[in-house]
Amino acid sequence: MIKTRIKKIFSEALIKSKLDLNGLTVIPQNNENFGDYSTSISLQLAKVEKANPMILAEKIAKNIPTDDLVEKVEVIKPGFINVWIAKKQLLKNLTKIDNKYGNSTLAKREKVIVEYSSPNIAKPFTIGHLRSTIIGDAIANILEATGAKVYRDNHLGDWGTQFGKLIYAIKTWGNENEIKDADNPVRILVDLYVRFHKEAEINPQLNDEGRMWFKKLEEGDAEARRLWTQSIEWSWNEFDRLYKKLGIKTEKFENNGRGYGESYFEDKMSPIIDELKKKEILTESKGAFLVFFPNDKYPPLMLIKQDGATLYATRDLATDAFRLNRYGKNVKIINEVGAEQSLYFQQLYETEVLAGWLKREKRVHIKHGMYRFKDSKMSTRKGNTIWLEDVLKEATNRAIKLGKLENIKVSEVIGVGALKWNDLKKSSHLDIVFDWEDVLNMQGNSGPYIQYTYVRCRSVLNKVDKYDFTTEIEETVNLNNDELVLIRSLLKYPETVLEAAKAYAPNYLCTYLYDLSQKYNLFYQKNPILKAEDTEQKNLRLKITLAVSNVLQHGLNLLGIKTVKKM
Ligand code: ARG
Repeated sequence: MIKTRIKKIFSEALIKSKLDLNGLTVIPQNNENFGDYSTSISLQLAKVEKANPMILAEKIAKNIPTDDLVEKVEVIKPGFINVWIAKKQLLKNLTKIDNKYGNSTLAKREKVIVEYSSPNIAKPFTIGHLRSTIIGDAIANILEATGAKVYRDNHLGDWGTQFGKLIYAIKTWGNENEIKDADNPVRILVDLYVRFHKEAEINPQLNDEGRMWFKKLEEGDAEARRLWTQSIEWSWNEFDRLYKKLGIKTEKFENNGRGYGESYFEDKMSPIIDELKKKEILTESKGAFLVFFPNDKYPPLMLIKQDGATLYATRDLATDAFRLNRYGKNVKIINEVGAEQSLYFQQLYETEVLAGWLKREKRVHIKHGMYRFKDSKMSTRKGNTIWLEDVLKEATNRAIKLGKLENIKVSEVIGVGALKWNDLKKSSHLDIVFDWEDVLNMQGNSGPYIQYTYVRCRSVLNKVDKYDFTTEIEETVNLNNDELVLIRSLLKYPETVLEAAKAYAPNYLCTYLYDLSQKYNLFYQKNPILKAEDTEQKNLRLKITLAVSNVLQHGLNLLGIKTVKKM
């Protein structure tokens, strides 16, 4: 990676100048006037050395050799050092850009579990689950591209006392055949569950019935197990349909494509409880068992209720113990879950650290923000949950209206791509104001805009037959500004993937791809490609076009967004 090589050059210059290289960072530049990379190290050093930053910068710059890699070095006020990558290098890189450009093996020693999606059985697949699915999938793809060994997990909510209530409700008010034949069995299950709570308000005795059925379920009662398994299948069918629409490859999830749901840990909690009791992390209080944190850093976390029941947190601890055992102590565990569970995950991680299982930095909560809808129609549905199916339908319908998208398949790709881009383009912890106009704006920072730029590249390339893309480009070629700007930007793609991986930030990739698309579209409007003045120029422009199309496709692919041939 060029950035790494530049860092080395800066470091060597600092050593030669007898200066401290701690805190050296290389800043990629997007503005032609500031070169390709910069450093502000002289400004930092000036404070320590009590020296003039401009003089320090000059001194360091003198020790940066101009060669095959660096063509020009410049010092500017108040003490930045800017370097320009040599044209020869830029051209060499351009010819190297194939459909794997952006992949590396830098993280090949890392093992990471990315847990995402995690919807609940017999409950709606919410916008929160949608965000988790989109962001988690992109993060897993990006990490994989840097060579890490990635395990994808889906922590399905398929266990807990609520299933006792559900079973009671199905048996009392439900009709299994009717549920089975319904368009959307999950909606009926949700209605039954809601009904349970309504009736229980009037008749609290129902809660005992619910508890009894959960107990039966735990004890392996055949009828309870049957209805529970049935509910899982009904829900999974629904989830699977959504995953297909979203282009999520479920076969990549651990445990045969479904992930280890909460129920997998049903019989794995008691050793954990024993361990935590022995380590004096878990203490009794009024019949319940809780983790109290030193200095009350967080509120206590309950692991066993008064009635002896385990909780969500108990299963999470068993899950992580299982993961450390299965994938090794060094595995990093990432949970992609809404920001509303922030405190909970802090409590969970702290408990694991207290238990001596792992270091804090091995646990990461990627917390996404919420959707807010401009369109009030979308936000008022029962209990503020939105049926994802409706959002997907709307996205596709709107994509159809966009223009000549006669093909339903293409509209779906555009609709889903638009939805995903809208989610990924901003830092994931921020809330999203959902505005259909933005989501499908072909002129703006949107999925369709990037997909369209890709189509544009492909249609140029499709018009040339028998073109040999491997021919070298002579260093003597004339580069105009539009071309130069693109070639320089292409150079920075692999490091962008790496930065996105390090920060778990798909939005870095979006920012890059949007910028690249804008640059390409500008270039395209101003410069004839197939009708270029001479062969050399045509050759260069075609190569740029091919490189841009490769990078756009690679990047979109990491984001989980498909491309189309025509739109
Ligand atoms: N099923 C949970 C929910 O819908 C999310 C699970 C998140 N993952 C975890 N390890 N707790 O809220």
